[in-house]
Amino acid sequence: MPNTPILDVKPPQKVRVDLAGRGYDIWIGRHLTAFAAGHIAALNPNGRVAVITDETVASLHAKTLNAALLEHGLTVSTCILPSGEGSKSYAMLKHVCEALIEAKIERGDLVVTLGGGVMGDLAGFAAAIVRRGVRFVQLPTTLLSQVDSSVGGKTGINSPQGKNLIGAFHQPSLVVADIAYLDTLSPREFRAGYAEVIKYGLINDAAFFAWCEAQWRDVFAKGAACTTAIAQSCLAKAAVVMRDEFETGDRALLNLGHTFGHAFERLVRYDTARLVHGEAVAIGLALAFQFSHFLGLCTPDMPLRVIAHLKTVGLPTRIQDIPNFSASVEDIVEAMLQDKKVQRGVLTFILAQDIGQSFVAKGIEIDKVRQFLSGVLEA
Ligand code: GLY
Repeated sequence: MPNTPILDVKPPQKVRVDLAGRGYDIWIGRHLTAFAAGHIAALNPNGRVAVITDETVASLHAKTLNAALLEHGLTVSTCILPSGEGSKSYAMLKHVCEALIEAKIERGDLVVTLGGGVMGDLAGFAAAIVRRGVRFVQLPTTLLSQVDSSVGGKTGINSPQGKNLIGAFHQPSLVVADIAYLDTLSPREFRAGYAEVIKYGLINDAAFFAWCEAQWRDVFAKGAACTTAIAQSCLAKAAVVMRDEFETGDRALLNLGHTFGHAFERLVRYDTARLVHGEAVAIGLALAFQFSHFLGLCTPDMPLRVIAHLKTVGLPTRIQDIPNFSASVEDIVEAMLQDKKVQRGVLTFILAQDIGQSFVAKGIEIDKVRQFLSGVLEA
């Protein structure tokens, strides 16, 4: 597969994340390698840059990126890690931190993460702790990371007890989402990332959800509608992050579909052959709307509409869609109680009164969840 060509076809779109003293721009467009290198050089003229990437992404895109960074007068070092969730570990964090120190990355320099959510989370966390904080730039290469994990400053690694339990809030200095990177993504991964796109419509933007229902084919064709979908998603996420950077309130809305979804990922032991994160979120979105109806919060046509769109694009919507899934109601409830959003044994759900009218519901009775899941598993 050739490296990404350096071609700026159309001007990229900009979304600003305005945080006092730590604001940054997110740029979205196609063929933005040279553009990204120029912006990185502007942040750190003639300085050092450490590119952290994984083996898969490195073989596709690192050469072109490094050439562009060198062309802009930067001193570049590259750290290539194994691909996959396993890299969000203590061992890899140590490796990246020491590589950054070896490369003489100073506070004024830049760590550049090139990859999906795993690279962004890991390298972002290393940037947060090396020399008590180095600036970093996110160059997300998956749809999921372009619309979610690269924006908002959540960084971290996994521990044997669970995912993302060790980490820090550390905002990037720049995010460049190049949709040319999505051309090398598998259809399954692209589709899974799309679940996070429609999530923003379902949270608080009914018009965006309707737009997705009408335009999804163009989004999947990765044309102008794809840029629009990513920009709209980043705008929605930026608005939430600006209101509640450290997740003391509203930011929890971004977890729509995730309380159920995380439980399924845990129960398949993060076996991505059976279930990837976006697929778990898709099933979680369907269940969140069905549960909202079960609790009398919304009309039955709401979950039906959500499920219809998820099915149209080929995403799973039922627990039974997870291959070889045999967990009981108690197993699922137990897995949900492991979630880091559980506070004093009480579950928080994101529920909905309508498409685009979601809210944080604290203290949901576990028995209601049990009753709901029993019905769902019997259906
Ligand atoms: N992915 C959820 C958040 O950034 O808060």
